Amino acid sequence: MLRNNCRSQYETFIRKLPKTELHVHLEGTLEPEMLFRLANRNRIALKWKSPEELRNAYYFQDLPGFLEVYFKGCEVMKTAQDFHDVTRAYLERAEEDGVVHAEVFLGPQTFLAQGVPLEAIMDGMFGAIDEMRGRISCFYLSSVIRTRPESEALELLELLAPWHDRIAGFGMGGAERGNPPSRFAGYYRECRRLGFKTTVHAGEEGPAEYVREAVEVLRPDRIDHGKTAESDPELMKLLAEREIPLTLCPVSNLKLNVIRDMAEHPLKKLLDAGIRVTVNSDDPAYFQAYVNENWLACAEALRLSRADLRELARNSFLASFLPESEKRSWLAQIEAFSEK
Ligand code: HPA
Ligand code: ZN
Repeated sequence: MLRNNCRSQYETFIRKLPKTELHVHLEGTLEPEMLFRLANRNRIALKWKSPEELRNAYYFQDLPGFLEVYFKGCEVMKTAQDFHDVTRAYLERAEEDGVVHAEVFLGPQTFLAQGVPLEAIMDGMFGAIDEMRGRISCFYLSSVIRTRPESEALELLELLAPWHDRIAGFGMGGAERGNPPSRFAGYYRECRRLGFKTTVHAGEEGPAEYVREAVEVLRPDRIDHGKTAESDPELMKLLAEREIPLTLCPVSNLKLNVIRDMAEHPLKKLLDAGIRVTVNSDDPAYFQAYVNENWLACAEALRLSRADLRELARNSFLASFLPESEKRSWLAQIEAFSEK
């Protein structure tokens, strides 16, 4: 009983805390019900009989195993309406969690390879983002896949020129082991030269050296994941000194067997080392946990204090690409929230 009370107190506190979400792939917000709806609409046959059957198949061995299922899911997203509906559903769900600003990834390469026009992707996604303005703010981060050639990433950057003024930054995901960050040095140089913010997935399954290499060679504004930096005290010091945020995704780490138990997660260790860590959902439909469920899982397993939770909320704004004035205004609201 007491445990339930503690849980609900945590839940209410977390839900009411103003927060951002900075690491979520729109492709990974495709719920089984939506996946079935889009498949029917686009007359695509599925091997599962029902959304429940599909959801029951969501057990993953590792990141490459997960990505296979994730890319299969992407095959049902074809039209501007599809990209609109997926984006809108995520934003409505994030709003319920007290997310006031989201920075969302979507990787056009997957869809271009399936013959979907770039216009359909951008029109659908930005249409939903615009509709939701006033309820939740949302920035788009274009993402590339690290197992594809760097030249293709540079080509995509050019293809996206008509939308450059609507893109907040560029990132990179995909299977990490054997694909070190330095392979994309030219791409990151070009993104920075054009004035974009950058992020890179590093230190999810890959070693701490990949995080160091990402920081030194790609010079990103944020590291996505960065979990394995915990094994290198010098690197932790560097991340803290340079104020390079980490967008941690604790439930993703658990579901992809990066950790065995949430109590093992280094979030608190990294936070206590002065690193700007944030909590995010990554692929909430597949890992069956939206952002607050990630906050709650860490809060319980790592026995986070309210002061820790407020710091995570402050970090979520400090690590965002919002203008400084908006960051300051949200930090003041968190301060006021704490005093209540
Ligand atoms: N890692 C790398 N690529 C991804 C992920 C991830 O966690 N989610 C979606 N694409
Ligand atoms: Zn990710």
